[in-house]
Amino acid sequence: MSSNVLQGQTALVTGATSGIGKAIARNLARQGAVVVLHGRDQARGNALVKELQAEGTSARFVAADLSDAGDTLRLAAEAGAVDILVSNAGLYEFAPTAATDAASFDRHIAVNTRAPFLLVGALAPGMTERGQGSIVLVGSSAARMPAPVGAAYGASKAGAEILTRYWATEYGPAGVRVNTVSPGPVHTEGTQAMLGEHVAVLDTTNARGRAGDPQEIAEIVSFLAGPASSYVNGAVLFADGGERSVLPA
Ligand SMILES: NC(=O)c1ccc[n+]([C@@H]2O[C@H](COP(=O)([O-])OP(=O)(O)OC[C@H]3O[C@@H](n4cnc5c(N)ncnc54)[C@H](OP(=O)(O)O)[C@@H]3O)[C@@H](O)[C@H]2O)c1
Repeated sequence: MSSNVLQGQTALVTGATSGIGKAIARNLARQGAVVVLHGRDQARGNALVKELQAEGTSARFVAADLSDAGDTLRLAAEAGAVDILVSNAGLYEFAPTAATDAASFDRHIAVNTRAPFLLVGALAPGMTERGQGSIVLVGSSAARMPAPVGAAYGASKAGAEILTRYWATEYGPAGVRVNTVSPGPVHTEGTQAMLGEHVAVLDTTNARGRAGDPQEIAEIVSFLAGPASSYVNGAVLFADGGERSVLPA
């Protein structure tokens, strides 16, 4: 993807040091946005800044732990005035409910639900003052597709979906759009680390017969963040390969 459609805009991408977030950040930078990259890992953040700057695009990195409310607000302050917020950082710990302790449940809610809540609360008022902005959340098909494991993750992502609809209503009249892309399984560093030698299971879950690539999600984020989707507000767009039938063809 390259065009200058986002020239003059600044985008904050959370969780840009890995997987889907890295692909999103690359895309937005190549579309002309100045990108504020976020993650916890300073070394990976610096490497991506270098890579993007070598391409002639503009990026800087801010480290913050989104499980901490104060650190999340510091990230918002250090990002400054942004036109585009992509809330992508997230964690998934797939365990049965009885094996999910309070700390794991709280981690999911803090990073996947509360952090976007705090970032939107801190950054959307500036967007409304300027009369324009676009917020894109990365949700998950897990919010709609139950499984025998991962209930805490599904709940945290369901929160992101309903927040999208609230914020579309709250901020839409002032020119700020809020949408979510909800991916099905995608091959990333995170899913590789979680599944190891069993990672191919991700390719068996949907009608396309394969998991997604981070770039396929990044293209949707670019669409939702940019002017081509100017009439889209409060949408939850599923990018999950389609439902797989259990009946024989
Ligand atoms: N991959 C999938 O199959 C899939 C499917 C549906 C939805 N999603 C969603 O897509 C998003 C990205 O997933 P991914 O697979 O690309 O993940 P990933 O490869 O594990 O990367 C996760 C990113 O989030 C950041 N992050 C995690 N915990 C954080 C914390 N406490 N504070 C700050 N940053 C934190 C990581 O930063 P550092 O590594 O620098 O700490 C990293 O940049 C997540 O919201 C996930 O729920 C993924």
